[in-house]
Amino acid sequence: MKKTAAGMVLLVALAATGFGQGADQQAPALAGGGALQPQRPGIYHRGWIDLDKNGVKDVYEDPAQPIDARVDDLLRRMTPAERIGQLWQRKMGADSVAQDAALLAAGGLGSYLGAAPDAGRRNQLQRAAVEDSRLGIPLIFGFDTIHGFRTIFPIPLALSCAWDPALVERVDAAAAAESAAAGVDWVFAPMVDIARDPRWGRIAEGFGEDPWLGGQMAAAAVRGFQGGNLADPGHVVACLKHFVGYGAAEGGRDYNSTEIGRFTLRNVYLPPFQAGVAAGAGTLMSAFNSLDSVPASANRFTLTDVLRGQWHFSGFVVSDWAAVEELVDHGYAADKAQAAVMALGAGVDMEMVSDCYRSGLPALLASGRVQDSAVDAAVRRILRVKFAKGLFDEPYSRPVTPAAAAAAALAREAAARACVLLKNDGASLPLRDGGTVALIGPLAADRHDLLGCWFGLGRDEDVVTLRDGLAAELPGTKLLVARGCGLTDSDTTGFAEAVAAARQADAVVLAVGEPAAWSGEHNSRSDLGLPGVQQALFDAVAATGRPIVAVLFAGRPLAVPSVLARAAAVLMAWHPGMEGGPGIADVLTGKTDPSGRLTTTLPASVGQLPVYYDHLATGRPFIEYKDGPTAPSRPFGFGLTYTRFAYGPTRLSAERLQSGAITVTATIANVGARAGTEVAQLYLHAAACSFGARPIRELKGFQRVTLQPGETREVVFTLTARDLGCWTPGGQWQAEPGRYESVIAPDAASGRMTGFTLEP
Ligand code: NOJ
Repeated sequence: MKKTAAGMVLLVALAATGFGQGADQQAPALAGGGALQPQRPGIYHRGWIDLDKNGVKDVYEDPAQPIDARVDDLLRRMTPAERIGQLWQRKMGADSVAQDAALLAAGGLGSYLGAAPDAGRRNQLQRAAVEDSRLGIPLIFGFDTIHGFRTIFPIPLALSCAWDPALVERVDAAAAAESAAAGVDWVFAPMVDIARDPRWGRIAEGFGEDPWLGGQMAAAAVRGFQGGNLADPGHVVACLKHFVGYGAAEGGRDYNSTEIGRFTLRNVYLPPFQAGVAAGAGTLMSAFNSLDSVPASANRFTLTDVLRGQWHFSGFVVSDWAAVEELVDHGYAADKAQAAVMALGAGVDMEMVSDCYRSGLPALLASGRVQDSAVDAAVRRILRVKFAKGLFDEPYSRPVTPAAAAAAALAREAAARACVLLKNDGASLPLRDGGTVALIGPLAADRHDLLGCWFGLGRDEDVVTLRDGLAAELPGTKLLVARGCGLTDSDTTGFAEAVAAARQADAVVLAVGEPAAWSGEHNSRSDLGLPGVQQALFDAVAATGRPIVAVLFAGRPLAVPSVLARAAAVLMAWHPGMEGGPGIADVLTGKTDPSGRLTTTLPASVGQLPVYYDHLATGRPFIEYKDGPTAPSRPFGFGLTYTRFAYGPTRLSAERLQSGAITVTATIANVGARAGTEVAQLYLHAAACSFGARPIRELKGFQRVTLQPGETREVVFTLTARDLGCWTPGGQWQAEPGRYESVIAPDAASGRMTGFTLEP
């Protein structure tokens, strides 16, 4: 019996208060072990309790000891069964407390996922692990906080369009605070998969198609979630996912196989992960997909050679959901035991949900098919993160209430800054207050679909609709609202009302797009147009001749050439989150100037896919499709403002570069009538590279410049030889001497490159 009398009193107190503030007010004396004094109000400070009751504060129990010493000390005490237990993560359910009591008392589990929404249950489970088990090793609780926990922000793809890593960091810090307050220690985010095919629904969860920008965003997200100190109770452990290549699913079919050559893997798919690792991410998730016929969750090359050997990642790897058992479904492992051998051998430390490790490892260890050292290495990595997170010292979650109002204001700011203005003929936008506006479409007054995929604990009733957002920002305008049709059905009976509203209006705002449930996991599409009869609704409204401002809501880039051709203005609003209505209204009315830029190429048709800006040159350039558009609708980096910017030619400080640096400069002028923010983008092209041909353009930097009308600014980027390099297939960063070109441009398809030579 490991529970002290004092422990029992404490638990009663904790249970009575929902593990709240009252617990420490009643903090009891610990029999034989000194007073149980919480370090701070509301914290049960485990490090002061001798759980194994040997009367000694063991090294692993002592917060003053270095983490590695604590890990060593604890590992030494653990039985094989306790070690294997640390490698397993289960889903937390309503019955987990009763069902898993014996498992937790035996030290048979390392983690739960789905920790929210019940911090009370979380703490009960934690109590069973910490108080009832021999060594008292805490569980770590994970949750899918993807773009907010309770306050829902724009989907990550949208957020990336703000081209502002600091915004990502602020959003994820706010999401971390809300998650932590509800008992989440660990979030399964950020998703840093490069995605070049919008048919894949999970493009919504990532930061777009560019590896460099993806790396900036990955690092920012890690900083936001984790803060400066993992043990800070307001922060959570981040998880870079899905390692690796998941975004290259063939045909955009979720979970599908990928074939990625080493050079492309190194230079396109790995960089965001590497940036996240360099930023200190505590964990990584191994992906579902196979990579060149070897499942990513059994891929020793990526999980060990690259991740640990070359990047020196010291956190732990969790598999994706049942991805270890699915090695059998892949046709890679013959059975669950072999799946365990392969996944553990490749470098998967913790198995999510399936139980190949738990069921297989005891016999595999006994037979010598798996070495103790392999299990120990995995346990060690998991324990290190648990210690670093402070779970041994503060295992229970505290009832903190994050500032909801501040989060909502941030959500509004983010929703506005995520918007990308795709078209604005005749200055249709910003809308001026006054007259009559018809707000038409299935998303005009919708709440749920604005949340987007993976909306955590977001609630429909907290969503502020576009109707309410516009009404607040246009108090002098008569707003006629007509739904017109549903998102996906074929009912056109609402068209007449919508057309009538349009006829009475000076302008139409048409709110159309995808339902939230059409993007995210296992939600692929084979068509990228407006679902249901929404295109027909657009056509019917367009036939009235009233100018249309189309607001597109989606979890992916849409291919809507007819909307882009016929609407007067088009605003890509993505799935904007809880404050979508006010955020979009801010942009439509000019309260916030649009400053978003695409982080994915906008295709003109599905037949063009995959289409992305950083493709390779070919010996015989592609001319055209016989039966459809060849150029994409809008290039990567594109986005209009309410003013206009003019770029001068790109200038270089030298024609040759050796050991120093070269500066790349361009003059940007605001030649319009309003202030605005330009995102000046630096692209590079390596004319020849013997490790592998390089893309026609690669983004290497950007600067946000806000200019008043008539104002001019020089933007200057500095390039050193290092910036010119690429990853060789073997993982060396190399910049080959030779010819390079560079340009500062408003998007990936504009500007004239100018060349220089990198000397040996
Ligand atoms: C499967 C998803 O692929 C992954 O992204 C998520 O974190 C886990 N399920 C846990 O919910």
